Amino acid sequence: MDYTPLRISTVKPLKSLTFDLYIFFKDQYLCYVKKGEQLTEDKYTKLKVQKIAKFFITESDELSYQKFLDSLLSETLKNTQISIDDKVHMVEGAASSAIERMQTNPGSESAYYMTETAAKSLRQIIKSNPEALKKIFGKKVEKNEELIKHSLNVCALAVKLAEILHCTEQELDDLGTAALIHDIAITQMNKDDIQLFYKPRKLLSSDDKRVYYLHTKDAKTLLQEKPYVNKTILELVANHEEVLSGQGPNKKKKLTKLEEILSMVNNYDKRTITNKTTPMQTLKDMMIDEMGNYSLDLLNEFKKVLHSEGLLE
Ligand SMILES: [Fe+2]
Ligand SMILES: [Fe+2]
Repeated sequence: MDYTPLRISTVKPLKSLTFDLYIFFKDQYLCYVKKGEQLTEDKYTKLKVQKIAKFFITESDELSYQKFLDSLLSETLKNTQISIDDKVHMVEGAASSAIERMQTNPGSESAYYMTETAAKSLRQIIKSNPEALKKIFGKKVEKNEELIKHSLNVCALAVKLAEILHCTEQELDDLGTAALIHDIAITQMNKDDIQLFYKPRKLLSSDDKRVYYLHTKDAKTLLQEKPYVNKTILELVANHEEVLSGQGPNKKKKLTKLEEILSMVNNYDKRTITNKTTPMQTLKDMMIDEMGNYSLDLLNEFKKVLHSEGLLE
């Protein structure tokens, strides 16, 4: 049987489950809560105590789980009694689970649908809670989680910027989904090549670049035959490393507004990981290094957003 991993933060105790919930314990999958039963507070706490961060569902329960998650997310985001930290935690859990599923199973329609829902929820939480973006960026993660965190950061910040630039709802949805999955092909590279993700762009040799940049093409290949992936999203993923000077892998010199936003925000967040510079220093470096790669207007808008959101402190 195939099991789909999900994060514990995307189930809540005291809600009847519409799927069997498994845990992986002592080298085997155990049914921890049965369909129709509730995850009691007691059982939920036990998971946390045991440091079990993931649970599993079977493939046949994916659709039931998705419906459960959709309603859990919308109930949680609406509920004024729930703290912003708890809300952020749940949305991050959903987005991280979705990215992870897309990394391991990029052909799964159910994983893709979860990604769309997660992107919408991220957008919603940022829109209605001024501190949410800062909370998301403020979190530090283990090295093995950095790529997922990067995708989440890029989604949150790109959508925020696009909203200020008056993009439409559809554009914001497309940008959010594309941002979550833009780097899914990186985990498919071999171990040595994956390390290129952690290397500052300035230090990449032309050979490194050729290998590393394949992840944009590979992502397109993984997604392009899927009828449920729209063209805007496909192009956004394929062009997320493009710059206006034409030095990106596809050598494009014209980018749509959304493509330019995604590429720029991706560039910014990636620098904070590879160069280990503070947000303020990263921004300063970008204003110099990326002159000609992004339009000055957009760079200045970005600077304003980083300031106003308190991300440079
Ligand atoms: Fe990338
Ligand atoms: Fe990226």
